[in-house]
Amino acid sequence: MSAASSAAVIERPTPSAAAQDLPASALIRCEAVGHVYRSTLGDETQALASVSLAVADGEFLCLLGPSGCGKTTLLNMIAGFVTPTSGRIVVGGRSVEGPSPDRGLVFQDYSLFPWLTVAGNVAFGPRMAGQSAANRKTLTAELLELVGLGAAADRYPSELSGGMQQRVAIARALATDPAVLLMDEPFAALDAMTRGALQRQLLEIHERKRKTIVFVTHNIAEAIALGTRIVVLTPHPGRIAEDIRVDLPRPRRRTSNGFNTLYERLAAAIGVDMAD
Ligand SMILES: Nc1ncnc2c1ncn2[C@@H]1O[C@H](COP(=O)(O)OP(=O)(O)OP(=O)(O)O)[C@@H](O)[C@H]1O
Ligand SMILES: [Mg+2]
Repeated sequence: MSAASSAAVIERPTPSAAAQDLPASALIRCEAVGHVYRSTLGDETQALASVSLAVADGEFLCLLGPSGCGKTTLLNMIAGFVTPTSGRIVVGGRSVEGPSPDRGLVFQDYSLFPWLTVAGNVAFGPRMAGQSAANRKTLTAELLELVGLGAAADRYPSELSGGMQQRVAIARALATDPAVLLMDEPFAALDAMTRGALQRQLLEIHERKRKTIVFVTHNIAEAIALGTRIVVLTPHPGRIAEDIRVDLPRPRRRTSNGFNTLYERLAAAIGVDMAD
């Protein structure tokens, strides 16, 4: 490994830290969380086993791993949609008991409300929270500008491309001003060019809004392009295999030595057939 690449990638000393070793100041603490799915026939699948993970305020954490390693399960537990069957999750000092506007969500399938306009979708959360019409209008305009969709406010989701729909979904997730943005393979269905554009936009949003982001992907290059930190999960049951802080300079060029060194290391960690 060259001096430049080793300086760019700093390993965490304790990738599989015990829950009691997690820093108390972390915004998100996954304390030895596990999850076992039980089917109606009584079959059990252990999706995750004792994952301990602390995410600091402002971090852009990419959860990387092959299909079935438990990425979505972990994200859904942080979101409050899935309850851990062991351990617990604490966000902002509070044990997660269910979903909260403090955790914004963006999924792969856009999941916009088709009967609402773009502006209506973005204003939905603030409307539920009882914000005034004037506040909603200002906020919606600001967020649509932020994602480059100022001119599309009155259109309906069905009139937008996939990339545009996903930008609306990001604006909608930001509308409740959540401390944390949880994203599950949000760009997986997009073509490479649109995906690159949305990645750059998300980095800008992270920079400007200083949100903490947990971003699930099985795309190695995407994790390196985005993350300030990459946590690799391996399956059966899902566990943390690697926890790497990424200090490569931005923009991160695929052709740089640091990028390639890290790519190969991550590909080895999750299996060479994962190389994309
Ligand atoms: N509702 C469910 N009932 C039973 N088993 C489930 C359920 N959801 C997920 N699983 C199992 O739990 C494991 C982890 O699934 P999960 O969806 O979290 O993986 P993932 O890493 O997000 O995969 P992918 O990359 O394909 O989205 C898998 O073995 C999966 O089959
Ligand atoms: Mg998944």
